Amino acid sequence: MAVVNLLADTQVAFDGVAKDYDRANAGNRTICAMRERLWHAVDRIVPAGSSLLDLGCGPGRDAERFAARGYRVTAVDWSPAMVQQAQGRVTRTSSAVDVRHLGIHELDRLAPATFDAAYSDLGPLNCVPDLAHAARLIADRLRPGGVIVASVIGRVCPWEIALYLMRRDWPRVRVRFSDAMTAVPLEGRTVWTRYYTPAECEAAFAAAGFRRLALRTLGLLVPPPYLQGFADRHRSLVALLQRVEDVVGDWPGIRNWGDHFLIVMQK
Ligand SMILES: C[S@@+](CC[C@H](N)C(=O)[O-])C[C@H]1O[C@@H](n2cnc3c(N)ncnc32)[C@H](O)[C@@H]1O
Repeated sequence: MAVVNLLADTQVAFDGVAKDYDRANAGNRTICAMRERLWHAVDRIVPAGSSLLDLGCGPGRDAERFAARGYRVTAVDWSPAMVQQAQGRVTRTSSAVDVRHLGIHELDRLAPATFDAAYSDLGPLNCVPDLAHAARLIADRLRPGGVIVASVIGRVCPWEIALYLMRRDWPRVRVRFSDAMTAVPLEGRTVWTRYYTPAECEAAFAAAGFRRLALRTLGLLVPPPYLQGFADRHRSLVALLQRVEDVVGDWPGIRNWGDHFLIVMQK
């Protein structure tokens, strides 16, 4: 399938969910926990007042939060409806956010500017057809020494493998292991997604001049966000798993598995 068609499908899919996306995610404790861990990684490594580039901002929750902490944020997204949501949100709350309708794959069309750091939360980099190309475009937008903090959907999610093995749903067990862009259903539409191991992601960025500073799993012991019903029924167990995951999540081996991983790379 041609790249333009993949991108068009993904855009239509996210347009279709944009209106309710933020409310649904804000009510999902697992997503909130993942989001907070990206926030804290940025807080730790990038001083307030710095300029940030939000890659795939969705409805703008992260951009709003970072602006409230004193950062200046330029936020881009490929879905016009997500951009509209983000613009509506930051118009109400912050003048330190500039939201643009732009794909990560076309960052060279952004008006000339370099940023102190970039972040990409909850998988936008998985929707880019050519990650190595995107990494080069991102590198061009960062000052020397600038960092990217990204949560990326991983390949080996033991919860998911166990779930679909129990259901004997072999195609679903294998879906993250494809080396191609894969059709992932979203409310009757298709998001084209490519899954990465941390090493694959790191290699794409290394070719653009980045080196890894930090890596941890997000959602290895804690069940993935779509198992929220299970998490709601077993709150104290999931809270315990989260505490353990926060301790061991950056240990070699362990950090390579999970629903997502959180990676920090420096140019
Ligand atoms: C799972 S959502 C995450 C949104 C946001 N980062 C958050 O944490 O709420 C993925 C977002 O990536 C955007 N996206 C998908 N492909 C993209 C691309 N090629 N360039 C920029 N954004 C893209 C989608 O429109 C969607 O808003």
